[in-house]
Amino acid sequence: MVALAENPLRVGLNQERIPDPCILVQFGASGDLVARKLIPAYYRLFVQRRLPPEFTLVGVARRNWSHEAYRDKMRAALKEFASQDLGPEALWQDFASRLFYCRLDIGDAEGYLRLKQFLSQLDEERGTRGNRVFYLAVAPDFYAQALQQLGAAGMLADPTRTRVVIEKPFGHDLTSAQELNRLVQRICQEEQVYRIDHYLGKETVQNLLVFRFANAIFEPLWNRNYIDHVQITVAETVGVEDRAGYYDAAGALRDMVQNHLMQIYCLTAMEPPVSLRGDGVRNEKTKVLQATRLADTRNVAAAAVRAQYGPGWISGRPVPGYRQEPNVNPNSQTPTYAALKLECDTWRWKGVPFYLRTGKRLAKKVSEVAIYFKQVPLSLFPSATREVSPNILVLRLQPNEGISLRFEAKMPGPEIRTRSVEMDFRYGTAFGSSAPDAYERLLLDCLLGDPTLFTRADEVEAAWRVVTPVLSAWETPPGYDTAPPLYTYEAGTWGPKAAEDLLAQSGRRWRRL
Ligand code: BG6
Repeated sequence: MVALAENPLRVGLNQERIPDPCILVQFGASGDLVARKLIPAYYRLFVQRRLPPEFTLVGVARRNWSHEAYRDKMRAALKEFASQDLGPEALWQDFASRLFYCRLDIGDAEGYLRLKQFLSQLDEERGTRGNRVFYLAVAPDFYAQALQQLGAAGMLADPTRTRVVIEKPFGHDLTSAQELNRLVQRICQEEQVYRIDHYLGKETVQNLLVFRFANAIFEPLWNRNYIDHVQITVAETVGVEDRAGYYDAAGALRDMVQNHLMQIYCLTAMEPPVSLRGDGVRNEKTKVLQATRLADTRNVAAAAVRAQYGPGWISGRPVPGYRQEPNVNPNSQTPTYAALKLECDTWRWKGVPFYLRTGKRLAKKVSEVAIYFKQVPLSLFPSATREVSPNILVLRLQPNEGISLRFEAKMPGPEIRTRSVEMDFRYGTAFGSSAPDAYERLLLDCLLGDPTLFTRADEVEAAWRVVTPVLSAWETPPGYDTAPPLYTYEAGTWGPKAAEDLLAQSGRRWRRL
């Protein structure tokens, strides 16, 4: 399994390359992520014949399942969560014959030796040649233990044959991320480690790079001379769902900002990479993060807003507030909404604020990057709306994936009056095919040994460094003078008024979505 450095911007999934034979060892096999995302992704890759004929999947979890019981569970998960049906029975049976199960307690050293032996036996029976991907889809508290045990059992010793995929969140803060990185690097080589952030697998997120660097006309404008500010929004309508155990200790900053929003930010703000091969993109993303800071680190409340949803309405249905959700501490101080004003101290961006916002139970599910260009120096024409309308370039990441450019046009009639209009590109209409799921793309890249769309150790730490002043301020125990307020917003709205004020201070406002 020699690492291949391939262009990550090939259109859709790679058609020609098939990964080497291997066993994918799925930790957390009985969990939600596997059922909802991973098994559907493996199955689709299998149906599209993108997996090697010897592909073998070994589910690992604590439950006492037989191989058959595991296959039944995975079949049920596919029925419930896959976007397409299973297809002919023979196809499923063929896939099922590649699935095996191994019971394991994450801290049980003997269990790992049994697993090791089982994998060697499968190598002989199925021709998987000792190639392994260990996918840790377990609770973050167990990453260290699983890695230590895999290391102690000698299962990560060969960097050319073994890889480890680690889910987010990588660490709980900067210190714990550094500790985890040190541990990972004691046990394996950086090139074996695939830290996953599923936003990087989204077509529209990758398209940020194509849009910027495959077109000549936008890049000359992509800087402080032409851009007034940038808004990045990732809004969700779902609440905490059944994930209170994890979410109440994480909150919006750790769950979304440190990873997903930061990645979108990086791809928007980075310099052109020297190449798309090897570390080119990751180097540039890391440099941007190193130059990024909260707009006001001395007064966090002036540059970061946190809030929690109260009861409200979503799609015409009443929904409970965060503190009334099952298993949430009724006095919880966890923010479900975060808005930040960042500055990037580089020649390209000095003085251009980047506003980031994300929240659960907001009015609409929508993710986008909006680039606000500067106004014309002198307005010659009266506008129909009487409002000053800057050009706005919007990259819609999901849903209604596409790009639009707002500009002024002359309204028909004898007078010269202007109104804003839009040029619009839609993925669905232009390409007419559905995009692969983010996990499909990332899993395939990992099996192929292409780490470009995975986050590197220094990059993860740099992203933690950006949010650390906010985390420290927000985690000041309530009652202290320095603790910034935790606002409440009604579910189904666009968040607290304080987030509007964050932009209003400088005469700006959030885009209405
Ligand atoms: C996950 C977060 O990483 O991303 C969730 O833990 C969030 O809280 C999800 O809902 C959003 O992903 P997507 O792909 O639905 O935008």
